Amino acid sequence: MVTEQAVLDALRAVSDPEQKRDIVSLGLIRDLTIADSQVTFTLAFTTQSPSSKATMHSMASRVVGKIPGVSKVQVKMGGAPTARSAPQQAQAHGHGHAHGPGPEKSAEFIPEVKHTIAVSSGKGGVGKSTVSVNLAVALKQAGAAVGIIDSDVYGPDIPLMLGSRGRPGMFENRIIPVEVHGLKMMSIGLLVNDREPLVWRGPMIHSFIQQMLKDVMWGALDYLVFDMPPGTGDAQLSLSQVIPLSGVVMVTTPQEVALLDVRKAIGMFQRLNVPILGIVENMSYFVAPDTGARYAIFGEGGGKRLAEEYNVPLLAQVPLDPDTRLAGDEGTPITLRRSDSPQAKTFRELASAVRGRLDELAALRPLPKIG
Ligand SMILES: Nc1ncnc2c1ncn2[C@@H]1O[C@H](COP(=O)(O)OP(=O)(O)OP(=O)(O)O)[C@@H](O)[C@H]1O
Ligand SMILES: [Mg+2]
Repeated sequence: MVTEQAVLDALRAVSDPEQKRDIVSLGLIRDLTIADSQVTFTLAFTTQSPSSKATMHSMASRVVGKIPGVSKVQVKMGGAPTARSAPQQAQAHGHGHAHGPGPEKSAEFIPEVKHTIAVSSGKGGVGKSTVSVNLAVALKQAGAAVGIIDSDVYGPDIPLMLGSRGRPGMFENRIIPVEVHGLKMMSIGLLVNDREPLVWRGPMIHSFIQQMLKDVMWGALDYLVFDMPPGTGDAQLSLSQVIPLSGVVMVTTPQEVALLDVRKAIGMFQRLNVPILGIVENMSYFVAPDTGARYAIFGEGGGKRLAEEYNVPLLAQVPLDPDTRLAGDEGTPITLRRSDSPQAKTFRELASAVRGRLDELAALRPLPKIG
């Protein structure tokens, strides 16, 4: 029989790295319930940084999981009580309703979505959004039903890159995603004015991500791709808290400064138990159109080094290509605009590598315990 006291005693071993005190005496443990051998509680975070939250979350779940007799631990994340509102921008347009920040991590939000793939990087400007849209299109071209969520609340680029200005519709209080190039798409960029600066606090990002999953009618999808903002911030943390992500594709450019940031991001996803599907090295090389000579503009070998370091596949090496940039700016991804180009072929190979990797990981996943 697991007691509340035993759980709290175990949790005293976990400290807030910023405040240097244990999470029990800081009062972060809320709503502790023990049902048979299953322990559930909420970490009521206040102003901690996303990386501290991730550390505390994974430590808390580990120490409680080690208590004899505990079979399952569910650690939810909460915010300060003042955070109980959905993004105001979304509300102003009448889209959705406020959800408390207490996240339920649940595949039930999107029961008809088979795989959820985040495209992330520690670094800005490496091509996450470009990879997201082209991966989504390439998966679609292979016959899958695909959705894409622009989770970059700070710089929502997906509507521009897919050339969509449509506004999402509403049906019975739920949001109907925009359809573009055969993909279902949602972005905060569809709900707000281009020039409006958005100021987001962590709990608002959390509500936004929850809303994108709970309140949007995604329907049956084989893949839902999330374009993430740069960094290791609240969006990455929230997303991996709200749903069990199938995996994350890490985008990097070849040079060492990019790798540094990507390592941090990989570390964060590992702590959150999100499988790393592999590495995409973008802007890997440039082939001069006149001479055919190949130039390593940002250096060489970074993606391969990273893949070896973490023992994950190098999923693709995408060349630097002016048409890819143009295609993004004009709203028709290169995989559609020039579907016979080497660039499009690379993205199709990426899609096929991602599918293979998801199957491989599904085969490795332990079967659920019964009883
Ligand atoms: N392989 C490529 N060849 C040429 N241009 C590229 C390539 N990949 C991305 N770009 C261009 O580089 C710029 C940055 O790419 P993108 O917006 O996809 O990066 P990001 O990582 O999503 O950036 P942010 O961190 O700002 O969200 C864009 O103008 C895009 O068109
Ligand atoms: Mg982007």
